[in-house]
Amino acid sequence: MSLLDKIDLNNTPKHVAIIMDGNGRWAKKQGQERLYGHNFGVESIRETLKAARELKVSYLTLYAFSTENWNRPKAEVDGLMDLLVRSLANEIKELSESGVRLLTIGDIEGLPENCRAELMDAQEYTKNNSEVHLILALNYSARWEIVNAVQKIALESQKGIVDPLTINAEVISDHMTTKGIPDPELLIRTSGEHRISNFLLWQIAYTEFHFTEVLWPDFRKEDFYKAVLDYQSRERRFGMVSEQLT
Ligand code: IPE
Ligand code: IPE
Ligand code: MG
Repeated sequence: MSLLDKIDLNNTPKHVAIIMDGNGRWAKKQGQERLYGHNFGVESIRETLKAARELKVSYLTLYAFSTENWNRPKAEVDGLMDLLVRSLANEIKELSESGVRLLTIGDIEGLPENCRAELMDAQEYTKNNSEVHLILALNYSARWEIVNAVQKIALESQKGIVDPLTINAEVISDHMTTKGIPDPELLIRTSGEHRISNFLLWQIAYTEFHFTEVLWPDFRKEDFYKAVLDYQSRERRFGMVSEQLT
């Protein structure tokens, strides 16, 4: 029985978020520069998207560049931005034909102009698709997002648009860059690191975590299936007791 056959297609997560990690270590193992690993990571994204479609996952959020990643050497940052622009230009037609809608979360205003333009074009080009939402987290950090949401709510309340006493979890969710996107049921981090690194802190309140030793450039469909199988083995109780769930 293949891994895919073991998956219950009626109980797959709607939204999977991934911290794609380990590109640099993968490259180093091959005696190459870090950017070599980032380049190979693009194939892993293609594979993951295929697996997501097979499992009817409608939202796939990929942590591609954190606000902290600006602190890396300039050549790596420039290389990553360049890779983003090239990959979007090369892939967007095929992505669109396979029903992918591209969205972004994060401080897009803070990206170089050519990246912003390419992202705008890609979002516009795919805006009528709805089979899979591919959400790229770029210049993203959860604390930035929360600070940004608090500022927006404070301004609205100052202008009298929002009554402070009506602020609830839904209002806060609606001021996040993930507005309208359901919370992820499953979060995967590759490369053996067991941390969140400032990703989706608000949205992962009840998310299941799957950590794998696999480095991102080696991540293939089977690794995605394994994560989903792990997810399906969990009992999600949401504070209740087992007996209440049946
Ligand atoms: C993830 O791989 C990609 C980005 C953070 C952009 P890394 O570049 O973090 O690779 P490691 O963790 O150093 O191996
Ligand atoms: C998290 O990976 C960010 C992305 C995958 C884009 P990092 O490699 O930057 O995280 P830390 O520094 O190891 O926590
Ligand atoms: Mg890393």
